[in-house]
Amino acid sequence: MYQLSGVTKRYRRGKTNVDALRGIDLTIADGDQLVIQGPTGGGKSTLLQMLGALDRPTSGVIEFDGTDLAKLSEARLTKVRSENIGFIFQSFNLIPTLNAQENVETALVPMGVRPADRRARAAAALESVGLGERLTHLPSELSGGQQQRVAIARALVKEPKVLLADEPTGNLDEGTRDDIMALLEGLWRDRGLTFILVTHDSTIAKRAPRLATLRKGTLTVRESSRT
Ligand SMILES: Nc1ncnc2c1ncn2[C@@H]1O[C@H](COP(=O)(O)OP(=O)(O)OP(=O)(O)O)[C@@H](O)[C@H]1O
Ligand SMILES: [Mg+2]
Repeated sequence: MYQLSGVTKRYRRGKTNVDALRGIDLTIADGDQLVIQGPTGGGKSTLLQMLGALDRPTSGVIEFDGTDLAKLSEARLTKVRSENIGFIFQSFNLIPTLNAQENVETALVPMGVRPADRRARAAAALESVGLGERLTHLPSELSGGQQQRVAIARALVKEPKVLLADEPTGNLDEGTRDDIMALLEGLWRDRGLTFILVTHDSTIAKRAPRLATLRKGTLTVRESSRT
């Protein structure tokens, strides 16, 4: 699925440079789950952006199914992203003026899915995350855990190969966090997704099949003895 070699990212801010990634080598197979942890500022979100074709590295190779994302034009990157990759963020990132179903539908618009099909697929996706009764609720009318479920439905409605989650339980209380993690684990297992999860949560990190730590732009990976 992914083959990264020598990936660097340097952000330029005026006269200062920030080396957010300093030569990442990483292989992620189809259907893998990888948990990434590490101190704040270590480069976790930057790495997810590279994996998610949201941005290109400064140097290095990011092969995704044999295509080097680092070399693609903006338009081709957008196409790869909209067809293959689902994102979930800590802050849910729902559109406040759209109801749950309309929020989920937005993921299908760039793919040219017809409105009636969009509505049906969005409703089915919300059903699959346990929100079949909440289609017409606005984000402000939903709890944090429910809003994250809407975001998960939005990420998965296009049936992506890859699910990228950046601290998806960071804004949730403990009980809700466990519910959302159980949902994500189930979806990963049932759908054969490749699942890459950034988390500060040591409980989640402890039971990860494969755990990577990103410190000051440098990655170390530990394979679990249990897999
Ligand atoms: N757009 C940007 N422009 C300039 N510097 C940036 C930009 N995005 C990130 N950085 C810098 O790159 C480094 C890595 O940031 P990143 O957001 O990837 O860290 P992180 O591991 O996700 O941290 P956190 O755990 O706080 O979310 C930081 O020093 C940050 O200030
Ligand atoms: Mg981050």
